[in-house]
Amino acid sequence: MNLEEAKGKVKELTDLLNKYNYEYYVLNQSSVSDQEFDRLMNELTILEKEFPELASPNSPTKRVGGAVQTEFKKVPHRRLMLSLANAFNEDDLRDFDRKMREALHTDCVSYMGEMKIDGLGMSLLYEDGNLKYALTRGDGVTGEDVTANVRTIRSIPLTVGEKRSFEVRGEVYMPKNSLAALNKQREENGESLFANCRNAAAGSIRQLDPNVAASRKLDAFWYYLVNARELNIHIHSDSLDYLDTLGFKTNHERRKLRGIDELLAYVREYTEKRDSLPYDIDGLVFKVDDIDSYDSIGYTAKTPKWAIAYKFPPKEAYTKLLDIVLSIGRTGRVTPNAILEPVRVDGSLVQRATLNNEDFVREKDVRIGDIIGLHKAADVIPEVTGPLKERRDGNERPFVMPSTCPVCGGPLTKVGGMHFCLNQHCAARKVEGIVHFVSRDAMDIDGMGPSVTEEFFNEGFLSDIPSIYHLKGHAQEIKDIDGWSDRSVDNLLTAIENSKNQSLERLLNGLGIKEVGTKLSKSLAKRYKNLEAFYTLGEEDLLKVDDIGPVAAKHIHDYFHDETHLDELKRLKESGVNFDYLGADTVDVNSYFYGKTIVLTGTLLSHTREEMTEILEGIGAKCASSVSKKTDIVIYGPGAGSKLAKAQELGIETMDEKTALDHLSRLGSND
Ligand code: IVH
Repeated sequence: MNLEEAKGKVKELTDLLNKYNYEYYVLNQSSVSDQEFDRLMNELTILEKEFPELASPNSPTKRVGGAVQTEFKKVPHRRLMLSLANAFNEDDLRDFDRKMREALHTDCVSYMGEMKIDGLGMSLLYEDGNLKYALTRGDGVTGEDVTANVRTIRSIPLTVGEKRSFEVRGEVYMPKNSLAALNKQREENGESLFANCRNAAAGSIRQLDPNVAASRKLDAFWYYLVNARELNIHIHSDSLDYLDTLGFKTNHERRKLRGIDELLAYVREYTEKRDSLPYDIDGLVFKVDDIDSYDSIGYTAKTPKWAIAYKFPPKEAYTKLLDIVLSIGRTGRVTPNAILEPVRVDGSLVQRATLNNEDFVREKDVRIGDIIGLHKAADVIPEVTGPLKERRDGNERPFVMPSTCPVCGGPLTKVGGMHFCLNQHCAARKVEGIVHFVSRDAMDIDGMGPSVTEEFFNEGFLSDIPSIYHLKGHAQEIKDIDGWSDRSVDNLLTAIENSKNQSLERLLNGLGIKEVGTKLSKSLAKRYKNLEAFYTLGEEDLLKVDDIGPVAAKHIHDYFHDETHLDELKRLKESGVNFDYLGADTVDVNSYFYGKTIVLTGTLLSHTREEMTEILEGIGAKCASSVSKKTDIVIYGPGAGSKLAKAQELGIETMDEKTALDHLSRLGSND
């Protein structure tokens, strides 16, 4: 192929890929299969390698990350990046409307009502139809150049049909289901969780490694065309429609509103609907629709007067911090926890909240005896926002991190901002290890939650993981404990007995080897088939497995070369625990539904609900009747109502019947 031909082909492929990207990420509909998309992308990548002079910086191939940066360059905004004045109630909104009516000498003003997306404000600069800069707000005068990270967000067009230069502002955010998936994965890896979508979005955009940002499943909505008038657009709602036609993702909950009554009705409507949206909003924004009047309405130093942000009442509560106690995780990680005077936050009773680590306590200046703020967003753990310093009476005590483990008395070591108890035999670590072993994603022993495990441990019925299989020797003693009946003890012992037949991947996950979560356990089990295979593997063998890096390889190797662990494994084997991978012959552990908890709702067309339950359970899924945090997937048919809404609110994956059937038809093909 000569250069001329290649040029034509590069353009053709670029246009096609941009179109498919737009359809998929902006319109949520796709006219091409994943395979075809990958094939075209591959073809373009190869051409660009062969003819580097044709590789534009805005090529669709450049969305996948790029070089790690050392810092973000500071770039001045062409126009100040303003913030918005706030309204907190109906009176504030009526006041705003009155001022607008007075300024515009009219009885009834036209507004645009919009979602106030809870993410990170962003400004995009396009020149000659190409994305040049993506800047954070910074101090409003100067922003940080985060272009490398922002270009990994697939819904953002890298090239557009408008060749005049223009700036568009909006919000980069993390959808609720991306946050749920990210936190699930971080939990498996023993990493700290993001408290809400905004923190997760901000943390991801401020990553110096664009590959990390690319992996974070961010999205963005665009709500303000800075140079509208230079582009001959005079009405804000028209400018948003124009952004739509240029290929930007705008938010379609927006509505033209005439006068304060329609504005207040919109507030009522979205106060109800906000939790069912797939992204977080912290309020609504109202803008005068007539752009030509903006200059005459005017500006304050920081905000335009022609717009206002209505903030929803906070999901925040205040209570007294009674004490700070330490908990020790199975890796030995020490977490300070706030013990609180019980308080209701956004509907649930909270009496304990994590304080993450010593530095968090110090930075927030949280002291025992303080009145502290607590925040809880939908389906995330309560977060301590900070103390009300003005409420102090002088009796508050600063927290001092002990130098020894409160459980075993061993020394605590600080590594990377966190404290660890490194004593392998520490009772707290042992209890957490057992809790993990019996948990749902591991050996799945029903009836043995954390408090039961701790009680059995304290009573001396349990001492380590293998002792679970000797619990039957304590049956009578357990039956004597208040709250246990003959039947509940028998059920527990049966669950323990049944767990001996679990497949290898669950056992591997349950052992609690650092860096080895559910996903890696599955690939390891599938590849090595029997637990004893690991006894002789070297780090270099493990490194050959996809998904395993040097750190995981070292942890796995070290685990199987430790005397205590080998002794524990020997005892598990003697008790009859299965060491083999069973997946291949029974259920496909890689099938999409394996091990997932599924709720069916609405009318299913292909099967009765009973049949579908049977099919799903036959391939290793669990079917439940109501949606909770434990639900992994909701499969819905026509007429689905509150269960579907609840799933969306909790950020749980939802899927129509056809998609479910597609997954089922791929069974056995490593779907
Ligand atoms: S308009 C001059 N519209 O909220 C216009 N802002 O609290 C400036 N935000 O800094 C912004 N959703 O980061 C606008 N629909 C929306 C918004 C929105 C979220 C953010 C934005 C702004 C902050 C003000």
